[in-house]
Amino acid sequence: MKRNQTATAGTPAPKKANIYLIGTIAAIAGLLFGFDTGVISGAQEFIFKTFELKNDAGLASEATRGFVVSAVPLGALLGALMSGLFARTLGRKRSILFTAIVFLGGTLCAAFAPNLESVVLGRLLMGLAIGISAMVAPMYLSEVSPPQVRGTIIFMFQLAITLGLLAAFAINLWFSHSIQDFTMNWRWMFGVGVVPALILFFGMLFMPCSPRWLHLKGRVNEAQKVLQNLLGKSDVSKEMAEIKVSVQGEGRSGSFLQLFKKPLLPLLAVSFGLFVFQQLSGINAIMYYGPQVFAKAGFGESTKYLAQFFMGLTNVVATLFGVWVVDKIGRRPLLSIGFIGMIACLGILGFLLKSGSGEYPFLALASILLFIVFFAISLGGVPYIMMSEVFPLKARASGMAIASCANWGFNMLVSFSFGILVTAMGNMGNVFMLYASCTMVGFIFAWYMVPETKNRQLEELEQNLYAGKPVRRLGDQISRPADV
Ligand code: BGC
Repeated sequence: MKRNQTATAGTPAPKKANIYLIGTIAAIAGLLFGFDTGVISGAQEFIFKTFELKNDAGLASEATRGFVVSAVPLGALLGALMSGLFARTLGRKRSILFTAIVFLGGTLCAAFAPNLESVVLGRLLMGLAIGISAMVAPMYLSEVSPPQVRGTIIFMFQLAITLGLLAAFAINLWFSHSIQDFTMNWRWMFGVGVVPALILFFGMLFMPCSPRWLHLKGRVNEAQKVLQNLLGKSDVSKEMAEIKVSVQGEGRSGSFLQLFKKPLLPLLAVSFGLFVFQQLSGINAIMYYGPQVFAKAGFGESTKYLAQFFMGLTNVVATLFGVWVVDKIGRRPLLSIGFIGMIACLGILGFLLKSGSGEYPFLALASILLFIVFFAISLGGVPYIMMSEVFPLKARASGMAIASCANWGFNMLVSFSFGILVTAMGNMGNVFMLYASCTMVGFIFAWYMVPETKNRQLEELEQNLYAGKPVRRLGDQISRPADV
């Protein structure tokens, strides 16, 4: 059989590892990412009632609320800063194992919290685990996947994030109704996160190490064995030679500083900028404060969590659609359609929330759901794609780490400031108008800066870069000598 043909004489063909199983287990880190970021949208109201944090208006002080919500992005920012170090020293597999323990610790700390400080500490820990795993898990997946299925396997991680958000909204809906004791229901909302954290930990124990990391650490024989299992063949000399070449470029000390000079600086600007505008669109004001927004739009106590659940479902379906079309339609057209749609929806939502009368709840729901659709097909996925495409190999890890910091830094800013802005600007509608204005600026930025990278080999982008093309033209077809 085919496998036997590739085996060298006398050696039986190695047993092939199931890459989809590896993908599913490692993608649980993505599920925890979505779950732990989304769960606060339902839990916050009950946490504040439990600890009786009230000001004159009977509400938790907006700064305290902002701090509890933004503790996860803050932790994730710290995690993202350390992720490169973890990936290099502990290794990809052990870093994911480590994050599973931190996820577990953070979840238990928040679920059994005796006071608000412990809730914040638990959420900081969850954030730390998210920041590390959101960088290391996709890296691990890309290093263990055979090239033919690499895109699909990495995509499983993205999909897992939206599924985790949806799971959080479903759990919030369930426990807000099924447990009437408000000092307990939020503990269960957090506590459910223990299950995926345990599956991640025990599952990862049985997963292989990344062959690329083993090679980096000089454990060449082990790297070869793992690769033989992953590919299901004995002769992996070609793949080993490729790993050797790419490992030589990894972690060169100069690569970080080079990012701040030409020609790499514009690439950093594109990836960094896209994440800034992703967050300034206000996506996480809706993801993390959804029930409050729906309440303002006219939904009642019992329906606001249901509306949030439908929003999560729309996000999953639209993300699936976005991934299906991104290589067909291209990044730029998707971004343009997405930006125009988001600006319109944010404007309508802002207008409806301005009066605060809650007269047209279903119009508000429609504008939120459509906003989610436009977001998911454009600013939801394209920044992640751009950051992994535009950097040349030697600067990829550092470039991605800095872009991830923009993602978490601005996520923190938006999630911390939402309530404060609502108070300062007079009403929620004005805040969504502000997000609409930021998104308009984002549209102009993307129009002039983002290259079309559809159907381009990463090496072609690299050649254009070193040929001096501006970043917007990075995806231009390379003319062969005969065409000139
Ligand atoms: C963003 C997250 C957001 C999620 C919603 C991602 O692209 O980075 O901040 O919560 O989309 O699906």
